[in-house]
Amino acid sequence: MNTQLTSLLRSLPLLAAFISSNLVEAAEPQKPGEPIKIGFLVKQAEEPWFQDEWRFAEQAAREKGFTLIKIGTPNGEKMMAAIDNLAAQKAQGFVICAPDVKLGVAIERAAMRNSLKVMAVDDQLIDASGKPVTSIPYMGISGGDIGRQVGQGLISAMKERGWQPSEVGALRMAFDQLPTARERTMGAAEVLKAAGVPSANIIDASQGKSDTESAFNAANIAFTKQAHFKHWLVFGMNDEAVLGAVRAAESHGLKSDSLIGIGIGGSKTAQNEFAKPMITGFYGTVLISPKRHGYETALNMYKWIVDNQQPVAVTLTAGTLMTRVNQAAVRAANGL
Ligand code: GLA
Repeated sequence: MNTQLTSLLRSLPLLAAFISSNLVEAAEPQKPGEPIKIGFLVKQAEEPWFQDEWRFAEQAAREKGFTLIKIGTPNGEKMMAAIDNLAAQKAQGFVICAPDVKLGVAIERAAMRNSLKVMAVDDQLIDASGKPVTSIPYMGISGGDIGRQVGQGLISAMKERGWQPSEVGALRMAFDQLPTARERTMGAAEVLKAAGVPSANIIDASQGKSDTESAFNAANIAFTKQAHFKHWLVFGMNDEAVLGAVRAAESHGLKSDSLIGIGIGGSKTAQNEFAKPMITGFYGTVLISPKRHGYETALNMYKWIVDNQQPVAVTLTAGTLMTRVNQAAVRAANGL
């Protein structure tokens, strides 16, 4: 046997040990030099809020030099495929706003199976019994607090106009299967009731989906049935919900002099409405932060992967009431 072959055979056990130690390493969190890839999965990619979130997550990706993989996942099937797809692309983690929060446990399992870290944004994930999956770090708004801000905005605008609480109808654009949506609208309703709006005047319009068209359809039915109210206050889970209701109101002849709508969000949907030469019933919005939700979650995920620094379990972000009048100042103060 020639000497080269002999030495190769002798080194085989060493080679085997080297390979196996590297396989073990591959299962560990992060190998130096391996490109970082982070997924950002959102339930409604067409909604301006989620576009903004992605834009700010991209900013974190540019700053830190990781690859952001953005995937719109409008249903559970697409979402599961997207998680597998991330694993195939050798991503290390992902941030998600799921199409259905009840998929929380399934998401956690899929992430573990694929050795992916996972963090939830906007909508907190829940288990089969409806409890939050606290092992998945979460960043979102406090639905109750932001909803109460909406309620306070509605009440002060109502008082400015001298409307009596007893004569207003209050339209709650409901999307109660989503806990944050329910908390938001219930928070607003609570403030209205405390200010004297009778419970019987709070009218629920249930949206089938969380978009403007579904809100329009739901509100249209409510305005037809409740034609006796002189004035209306309108609130919902987001700007799209309130905008749909405002458009439906217009088709019933209810304009800005008889309707006050306040949304939640403050991105393009609200900005476009404010930019119209005519003042519409879309009076204001509680501006929340797509920058915190997009940039910070992506950055937190990056630090988790690279420094093994796990994000805090729950981070709640704040909001500010923004109207046509103060929009420039509020946006500037929020670095937008
Ligand atoms: C939910 C809503 C979005 C937006 C975010 C904010 O996901 O569907 O429209 O309001 O919350 O966190």
